[in-house]
Amino acid sequence: MAIVYDEERRIFSLHTKKTTYQMMADGYGYLLHLYYGKKLDASMEYMITCFDRGFSGNPYDAGADRGYSLDALPQEFPVLGTGDYRSTAFQVREENGCFGCDLRYAGYCIKDEKYALPGLPAAYGEGQTLEILLRDQRLGLEVTLLYGVLEECDVITRSVKVQKVAGEECGGKVYLEKVSSACLDFLHGQFDFITFYGRHAMERNLQRARISHGKQSVGSTRGASSHQYNPFVILARSETSEETGECYGASFVYSGSFSAEAEKDQYDQIRFVMGLSEEQFSYPLDKGEIFHAPEVVLSYSAEGFQELSCHFHQCVREHICRGRYRDRIRPVLVNSWEACYFDFNGEDIVRLAEQAAELGIEMVVMDDGWFGQREDDNSSLGDWEVNERKLGCTLSQLSDRVHEKGVQFGIWIEPEMVSQESRLYREHPEWALQIPGKKPVRARNQLVLDFSDSDVVQYIYDKICSVLRQGDIQYVKWDMNRSLADIYSGKTRQQGKVLYDYMKGVYSLLERLTAEFPDILWEGCAGGGGRFDLGMLYYTPQIWCSDNSDAIDRVCIQYGTSFGYPMSVMGAHVSAVPNHQTGRVTDLHTRGVVAMTGAFGYELDLGRLSEEEKEQVREQVAMYRRMAPLLQQGRYYRLSNPFEDSHGAWMVVDEDQKQALCSVVLLEKHGNMPVIYVRLQGLKEGAKYRDHATGAVYSGAALMAYGMPIPVGLGEYQSWQILFEEWEENRL
Ligand code: GLA
Repeated sequence: MAIVYDEERRIFSLHTKKTTYQMMADGYGYLLHLYYGKKLDASMEYMITCFDRGFSGNPYDAGADRGYSLDALPQEFPVLGTGDYRSTAFQVREENGCFGCDLRYAGYCIKDEKYALPGLPAAYGEGQTLEILLRDQRLGLEVTLLYGVLEECDVITRSVKVQKVAGEECGGKVYLEKVSSACLDFLHGQFDFITFYGRHAMERNLQRARISHGKQSVGSTRGASSHQYNPFVILARSETSEETGECYGASFVYSGSFSAEAEKDQYDQIRFVMGLSEEQFSYPLDKGEIFHAPEVVLSYSAEGFQELSCHFHQCVREHICRGRYRDRIRPVLVNSWEACYFDFNGEDIVRLAEQAAELGIEMVVMDDGWFGQREDDNSSLGDWEVNERKLGCTLSQLSDRVHEKGVQFGIWIEPEMVSQESRLYREHPEWALQIPGKKPVRARNQLVLDFSDSDVVQYIYDKICSVLRQGDIQYVKWDMNRSLADIYSGKTRQQGKVLYDYMKGVYSLLERLTAEFPDILWEGCAGGGGRFDLGMLYYTPQIWCSDNSDAIDRVCIQYGTSFGYPMSVMGAHVSAVPNHQTGRVTDLHTRGVVAMTGAFGYELDLGRLSEEEKEQVREQVAMYRRMAPLLQQGRYYRLSNPFEDSHGAWMVVDEDQKQALCSVVLLEKHGNMPVIYVRLQGLKEGAKYRDHATGAVYSGAALMAYGMPIPVGLGEYQSWQILFEEWEENRL
């Protein structure tokens, strides 16, 4: 049984394959957190200690018991107003401005399926649900804590439903000022907070910092999960490494503003809270109304980051990504963006298709610039009409011509945006998010459509559908190229709802379009990785990882991304040199090795390749096709830290441990350098492995215990790839 309830002690235990999560409704009706970690068959309430602590108040019903204080006790869902002064998970403002919510245990329910969330993405699939009902009688407010148990991938999910069940008799409307989805309290232990910070074109750098007294937080207030901080974080014991030690991962299944806070309190306890950002959030709830907080996916590993990543990779692949392409090998594509930017016509796209076909590339994507009057990034967003004058033909004719070359066809869209220089904006200026009387903040010279308004979403839905019906289209790249500002919708008097409702509008459009066109491969994008999160991955099984296509920077970007996301969801392309973002020159082999680790493609003018390069591309594509099942479905291991080491190294091993592909990129070269060794992982101890290229045979145990040297002649930015196959004879 994954969920066990001990009725006598009112203790709930959630068990996955290797972990246990435990909580207790105590005598006062507060829900105390007892444990999360290695699988246990024990009741942990003996860990709770109570004694009189100065300036840590006591609930009224504790009477003379001055030892009971919520300021010190570990809790499941701490609330502002109960005498807990740490980061809380829930804050409710009443009409008169006061914050006095007090939630008590009111019942539970266990269900034999994983819950879903209306209008929001959430992990799906075989699992169980525990619902715990908390009630504030005075406010007529019911809060249901939802726990999903995905046993096989050692995942516990959390979400929260808030319902106002009474009206005027309970003081009328309330405003939800903060609704976090998960809280984890640790009674003791030294923890590091590992976060993934970045910027446009350099996302998901790893930062590891000791959690010290006070609050440390990352998050986004941009209306998108952001390039700046990813909504995936790790809490790790100070000694935890790739292969050993305890760590907890938390990933927010949401693509808008968020917050992840870690706090070391006055008693050296650690609290972690994750959920919606409080900034510009104030959600009114009247009698009968319900609010759903997005989901947080939690996982624990006792065996280091490697194992933790593996849980998240499995969860994302099997319980988040959906659709026809979920388990399919993705087609190798060539994208027109870095090949020609806005400067193309239909002939150029057909030529690209012809060249693609010659090289074995399976799909051509016509990126930005095919609609309205769009010749640069200053106009036409919102005018989703094919620019037939520019293309020299209709979309249907173009897609036919591309298909005639034996190549699939994809297009780019940016549905949430509007250019002021567009027909749509001239007709409907009120559809853009902007504050009356204030000049809006512009970014990339564009404004954001008010997706909290279902009429706007409906209009865009119709427009995009009509485009997608015009041609035989197999792929769509869904872009989003600015942060939100000027949060004001003419459709509501409650502007504190808009950011959340905007995200729900985006999800509703994604849901409808992906359902209407189930055969299309959808790729998410927000100026590269500005919305790289489980919310988007629920609709688009891959996301363009970064606008930075430089192979050397990509080693770091993909390394950081790999902690919380499988390689199969990372769009990665070989682009031209000197690289358009960095000016760096790397050889074609290295660019291939790096891009091949993700959802592989090209993003350059194929016509400019030399015959020799074309031959190399043909080989790369063929190699990728052969290796794709291993690369996209195998178990991924990080073998170096490219932020610290002079090289990037990683490997992928298939489920049977019969095949492993190890890749190394030299990030810097110095005179008379020490030899670089890589220690392999994930092989069978008792097996021998043969280097596919040279025929040399190695012991699996030895490769993992002591590793192997990489070729000493490798120059800066050069790479080395070695395919190991289990050597069946002569077993050790
Ligand atoms: C964003 C994307 C790019 C490209 C451009 C087009 O920056 O990340 O890949 O599609 O928009 O304008």
